[in-house]
Amino acid sequence: MHTVIWLTMPAALVALAVGILIQLDLNPLSWGVLADLPSAAQIIDQKAFNALSIVPPPLHANALTVFLWPGVTQESLTARPFHIYDKEFYDIIGPNPSLTLIATSETDPIFHEAVVWYPPSDEVFFVQNAGARAAGTGLAKSSIIQKISLAEAEAVRTSSNQKDEVTVTVVPSNPQVINPNGGTNYKNQVIFAGEGQGPDVPSALYLMNPQEPYNTTVLLNNYFGRQFNSLNDVVVHSGNGDIYFTDTLYGFLQDFRPAPGLRNQVYRLSLATGAVTVVADDFTLPNGKSQFEDGYRFDVKKDGTWENRKTFAYVAAGIPDGIHCDSKGNVYAGCADGVHVWNPSGKLIGKIYTGTKAANFQFAGQGRMIITGQTKLFYVTLAASGAALT
Ligand SMILES: *[C@@H]1O[C@H](CO)[C@@H](O)[C@H](O)[C@H]1NC(C)=O
Repeated sequence: MHTVIWLTMPAALVALAVGILIQLDLNPLSWGVLADLPSAAQIIDQKAFNALSIVPPPLHANALTVFLWPGVTQESLTARPFHIYDKEFYDIIGPNPSLTLIATSETDPIFHEAVVWYPPSDEVFFVQNAGARAAGTGLAKSSIIQKISLAEAEAVRTSSNQKDEVTVTVVPSNPQVINPNGGTNYKNQVIFAGEGQGPDVPSALYLMNPQEPYNTTVLLNNYFGRQFNSLNDVVVHSGNGDIYFTDTLYGFLQDFRPAPGLRNQVYRLSLATGAVTVVADDFTLPNGKSQFEDGYRFDVKKDGTWENRKTFAYVAAGIPDGIHCDSKGNVYAGCADGVHVWNPSGKLIGKIYTGTKAANFQFAGQGRMIITGQTKLFYVTLAASGAALT
């Protein structure tokens, strides 16, 4: 459910720190020439809302509301879902991007987070929301892991299999990963961050075999004998191979974990030595009233520690959740109305507008992306590709 940017920030920093930040060539097409506009894209003229005749007070216009400015409607924004805020976005979407709804769920938020691509079978794994009322998960039962096939997603996109939805398969991890929330590909296995359950099932990092029998091994479930609060997200640094993960109090806020015994911080685990170290702390605590969050970036030093905390971006729609970079260092975040894209300097250059909360997403190889929208699952084709897997 709620995740704020620092929780997933390691993904951004990894790519920011190790990605090659190339200067994008200026698009040879002149800005705004309609002939060059892909049919699924529209240009957003930001000057159209720089000076509004009415600017509503915070009670009516805030991070939880959708911003519709004069001349646009929810329908017009979803009809052409690739929103070009800056011409740099042309290179990201390419000439023929597509956004396809490939699966839906009535109310149960089964398409939540931990979106992980597994190249050998070309499948994408993801998890149900842990702690959401509509899911009935948390204390009563664990959130589940599911997967889809990308070949099927492509068949739905091109309507070649006469089906309008992909098959969503439950993955029976064994022993079960309890309340998974974050996940990442690690050497073609999957690492999940599980939030734990009640006072006796500790939050843990699990390694799962992505093939039958989906057997799992607990990698870490304590900090020198003390339980983590509720691990939220996990990423592997492609440079040093270490595992960076975030610990938060969402399990407590959602009533399925005890009051936190540790500070909310970001940790690093070295699988080579077993060493667990803290790399960052002092983040604003999530505040139930104000849901505004900044995003930060850090540099990863040679020794694996972080420095140069810097504000990266401030999201205007909802709380940024999953964050990932593409191969060129552009930063993508799942937000209240879709996936927002910033260039490496933090300028908003475009959106993939789902019109619904994009809880998380993941690149799945060359020019493909899966977006988890709680009760909706989307398949995107575009020009950009994700940062290399580790
Ligand atoms: C799964 O089981 C196989 C066979 O016993 C073992 O080699 C592998 O390490 C296990 N993987 C995990 C993630 O536990």
